[in-house]
Amino acid sequence: ALVSLRQLLDHAAENSYGLPAFNVNNLEQVKAIMEAADECNSPVIMQGSAGARKYAGEPFLRHLIEAAVEMFPHIPVVMHQDHGASPAICINAIKSGFSSVMMDGSLMTDGKTPATFEYNVNVTRSVVEMSHAVGVSVEGELGCLGSLESGHGEKEDGHGAEGVLSHDQLLTDPNEAAEFVKLTQVDALAIAIGTSHGAYKFTKPPTGDTLAISRIKEIHARIPNTHLVMHGSSSVPQEWLEIINQFGGAMPQTYGVPVEEIVEGIRHGVRKVNIDTDLRMASTGATRRYLAQNPKDFDPRKFLAETTKAMKAICKARYEAFGSAGQA
Ligand code: G3H
Ligand code: 13P
Ligand code: NA
Ligand code: ZN
Repeated sequence: ALVSLRQLLDHAAENSYGLPAFNVNNLEQVKAIMEAADECNSPVIMQGSAGARKYAGEPFLRHLIEAAVEMFPHIPVVMHQDHGASPAICINAIKSGFSSVMMDGSLMTDGKTPATFEYNVNVTRSVVEMSHAVGVSVEGELGCLGSLESGHGEKEDGHGAEGVLSHDQLLTDPNEAAEFVKLTQVDALAIAIGTSHGAYKFTKPPTGDTLAISRIKEIHARIPNTHLVMHGSSSVPQEWLEIINQFGGAMPQTYGVPVEEIVEGIRHGVRKVNIDTDLRMASTGATRRYLAQNPKDFDPRKFLAETTKAMKAICKARYEAFGSAGQA
């Protein structure tokens, strides 16, 4: 059944687990996420970005998630709008049937320029007022995603803030977070701790200086009743990176957020963990490998079944590691 984000995250907090929130754009991703959840009895968060709606078309995206709910009626499913850049985008998502929206007021509507605290509070609060009136949950974001590696936040993937960000902008301030939650009444708060979207997060395995799990602990100590959200939380599986490159790809060496660091975050208030890149990499790696090894095949269902299997294995591993397995 379709449920709100608030319902799921309250249950997650009461039972000390976290939920992966997977981005979806197509049938194979939805199938992989649902089949894995069914096998390990996990609740599900599926999220659609503005880019996903542009790719699939709003009716296709909506019906894919509705089809998942119909096929797996015993699994609670949240249909979440990822990174809404404006109140208008959030309203459209609510009209479309989403049970949860993210108002990302950390950036201006161009999705690039860092916003002021006042702007962020105003747009987020207005979305909370409208959404709560119709039973829809709201995720807000305070702080800008970006790399702490070289002391500045230069983005390489075209997502999120552009140019150089200060250390302060890249790490959410615990006192500001408390003020933000009080003023906006968001159901969940995305925080910045040095992660970024896409595959190119860290040029070497992250340390406490580049992935600030300690900041999660400080924020959680300040606002223990707020559900925290980690964005840019793909682990960038090294085995899939190798397979992609072994079968014709050319991805540079790169590292993601280790699963054990996410689990440490979950011990300190993280309840929603956004993952897109890991499924993209598994999908591309499985496709490249299948086509290279089966050059005579031309039925897309053959390689699409392989990509689904590859994504499903990652989904299952995350449900188990984050503790949502068995909680549906
Ligand atoms: O926010 C980032 C997600 O990975 C969605 O990416 O905008 O390319 O769909 P997208
Ligand atoms: P990744 O690119 O690390 O998968 O992050 C996805 C995300 O944060 C979507 O909002
Ligand atoms: Na989101
Ligand atoms: Zn994100």
